[in-house]
Amino acid sequence: MAQRTETNVEKFCTFPYREIHLDSQGVFGPCCQYTKRKNKDKYDMSNVSSIKEYLKSPQLENIKKDLEKGIKLEQCRYCWRVEDTGVPSMRQRSSHKDISKIREFFITFGNQCNTACRICNSTRSSLIHKYDMLHADKIEHEQLKKELKTVHPWSEGKVWYTNVANDVVDILDGLEVIKISGGEPFINVHFDRFIDTLVNSGKKLPKIMITTNGSFTIKQLKKLKPFESVILLISCDALGKENYEHLRWPLKWDNFINNINSVFNLDFNVWIEFQIVMHNLNLKHLPDAVNYFKENFSKKSARVSFTTLNGADWYTVANSPKELREKICQELEKIEFEGYKIKPSKQEMIKYIQNAKKQKLSELVSHVKHTDGYRDFDTWKFLNWSPKEIS
Ligand SMILES: C[S@@+](CC[C@H](N)C(=O)[O-])C[C@H]1O[C@@H](n2cnc3c(N)ncnc32)[C@H](O)[C@@H]1O
Ligand code: SF4
Repeated sequence: MAQRTETNVEKFCTFPYREIHLDSQGVFGPCCQYTKRKNKDKYDMSNVSSIKEYLKSPQLENIKKDLEKGIKLEQCRYCWRVEDTGVPSMRQRSSHKDISKIREFFITFGNQCNTACRICNSTRSSLIHKYDMLHADKIEHEQLKKELKTVHPWSEGKVWYTNVANDVVDILDGLEVIKISGGEPFINVHFDRFIDTLVNSGKKLPKIMITTNGSFTIKQLKKLKPFESVILLISCDALGKENYEHLRWPLKWDNFINNINSVFNLDFNVWIEFQIVMHNLNLKHLPDAVNYFKENFSKKSARVSFTTLNGADWYTVANSPKELREKICQELEKIEFEGYKIKPSKQEMIKYIQNAKKQKLSELVSHVKHTDGYRDFDTWKFLNWSPKEIS
């Protein structure tokens, strides 16, 4: 049984006790930020093939024991990094939650995606994978080239074990939430089958949270009515045509925003949470995004979350001109956040922009050149600053 004591609560993490996560390659872990596969170590889950096996595995036991001792696992680095900037990490935000039982099941449905977002990668997007395979040979940065040319095991067929939906039905009692991500879940037939199995089980269904780029049909949403509540985490990275279409290529803003607005006409309540990852490509747009949300969605069942990078670190907000960061912080300072459904607080957002660390500048230049190449786009012209001005 877990020991969350006064002395270890600073390092303790509740996720190994309360959440099961299946990543885009079907590998188990305690949460969506926990990075795995690369290390063949005592935490390695690559051979674990069912929920029952995972819960009894010595690997999970090792994760629990070591976190309990206060060891900062390398696999948990994204949380530690966020904490270093002074912003509460996912671990900290969940540190006092119930650990008596598995309460959350989180599945990432492979990498099938219709979009090639600037900050995303081929483990999550088949479209990015396609362009990486076609063009990565031209990348000058050797390490980046190697990373982008990695062939992932989807082509070998195994993504998730086929019985996953039935195994989730078995643990439904006590589950508080089912979380779903991808790839783009709503274009994936395995996602539709998963929902059908849960709905057809006739059991009481918990809350469901789906991370999506907005590519759903109303027919798909109507199927979700039996869940206790439905939350759509809508990733957009921008709220406005120009920046949206730059960041979420090749999706179109008008289709996106019309689809979102149609959600509010359903005969059951669906919560919308816009998710905007803060990075150097949307830094100048952040104040406009806040204002757009306030003007258009503040009276609806909607909220907005500004989140942080957990990959493609070269797009950190810090890799930008200092004057721009200062200007954006000043603009944010003038906007009223209080009373609106905006996360995190204004001060935390500003602190994040001010404290982020510059990194991987050569990767930034190479990655921008690579993506601009296959989109026929000029990022630096669009941003109105160049890598030389990063300070
Ligand atoms: C990979 S997507 C999959 C689900 C769906 N396709 C979508 O876009 O919402 C899940 C989330 O990861 C975010 N994401 C992509 N690349 C990221 C990165 N480098 N750092 C942080 N979040 C990222 C997306 O913006 C989205 O909110
Ligand atoms: S829509 Fe989601 S999975 Fe697809 S490229 Fe964008 S962030 Fe990645």
